[in-house]
Amino acid sequence: MASHPFYTTSFKGIGPLTARELHSQANIPGEGLETGSVRYYDILRFAHERSDRLGGLRTTEDVFYEIGETELTGHRADAERIQDIITAGPIEPAISCRRTLTPKSRPGRPTYRVIVQAEDAPWRSYRRERLEAAAAQAIGSRYRKWRRVDDDSQIEFWIQVIDKTALIGLRLTDRSMRHREYKVANLPGSLRPTIAAAAVLLSKPTHEDIVLDPSCGAGTLLVERALHGPHQMLYGGDIREEAVSAVRSNFGNKHKPWEIRTWDATRLPLDEGSVTRVITNPPWGRQISAGQEVTGYYKQSLMEIERVLAPWGRAVILTSEWRAMRAGLKGASRLKVDEQIKDISVLGRKADLFSLIRTDT
Ligand SMILES: C[S@@+](CC[C@H](N)C(=O)[O-])C[C@H]1O[C@@H](n2cnc3c(N)ncnc32)[C@H](O)[C@@H]1O
Repeated sequence: MASHPFYTTSFKGIGPLTARELHSQANIPGEGLETGSVRYYDILRFAHERSDRLGGLRTTEDVFYEIGETELTGHRADAERIQDIITAGPIEPAISCRRTLTPKSRPGRPTYRVIVQAEDAPWRSYRRERLEAAAAQAIGSRYRKWRRVDDDSQIEFWIQVIDKTALIGLRLTDRSMRHREYKVANLPGSLRPTIAAAAVLLSKPTHEDIVLDPSCGAGTLLVERALHGPHQMLYGGDIREEAVSAVRSNFGNKHKPWEIRTWDATRLPLDEGSVTRVITNPPWGRQISAGQEVTGYYKQSLMEIERVLAPWGRAVILTSEWRAMRAGLKGASRLKVDEQIKDISVLGRKADLFSLIRTDT
């Protein structure tokens, strides 16, 4: 089988976990990946025979077929380089891979659009719209029956400028990869599903897991855990009743067994050593409940996590409250940091994913 050039985009910082997912889902070794980043995204490039293996990825925002790449000079000739790639690039194989990943296109003339992602850069003498116009013109000349539209097109070409290289790709996936259909009820500050899926992956899930999210908001982490694979039990709770109702409606009749309650994460109604995984995204700033402050919350909730977690269980915590986290860990000395994935872009803030192991000494 011939190999095709693909790349994925994930939120910045999530790339290393997408690399693990590509390994487990599609047997793509870490050495086979080329990495880069643009704006808020990590990009992983690789060659693979089968596009159908890529549709089930959960930590990625999108998957692309690589049409080509070119070095940019910053001068107007860059537009012609992009046009040359589009004129000769592998667009037909890209479209046939797209058919395996997204539902059949609507009948009629195919529509297309071009999206350019590039940081403002002093070395460029032109605006990014110039690349967009040049690419659109080349596509229009190659496929005379296609119609250019501004929005909601069947075919999307993306130009991502990484340092001084332009990567040109055809998007294989649609919005359902990043926005999951389970999100019936949403809450402000709710975690992006792909980041939640990355946290789940870091928890090294097993079929025997009894999982807890002590401050679960709309329950994104618990749903992503349920969708990853079988579990023994899911426990979740939040201090706000509104959040608890949102989780219950997101769960409906699915993901059983589960128990979602209104509670205070600093005083959990759970027995010592009763869970094997904690996956959570604790509150920050004004999300901390009245009467608590961030250091106190972390101290007490980490002591609770240490108490309810069984020996050798794992806790994965996504936080940007590094100081409070460090202070909290001093008071929960049986929780040891096993791994830390740094600088993840979460709703415009930087956060780290901590993977902790509950030692039994
Ligand atoms: C960052 S949000 C969690 C978002 C969640 N992962 C989602 O995807 O919707 C933090 C949550 O902690 C909750 N919270 C604040 N103080 C709490 C407390 N003492 N006990 C339990 N939950 C608390 C807030 O109500 C908020 O829903």
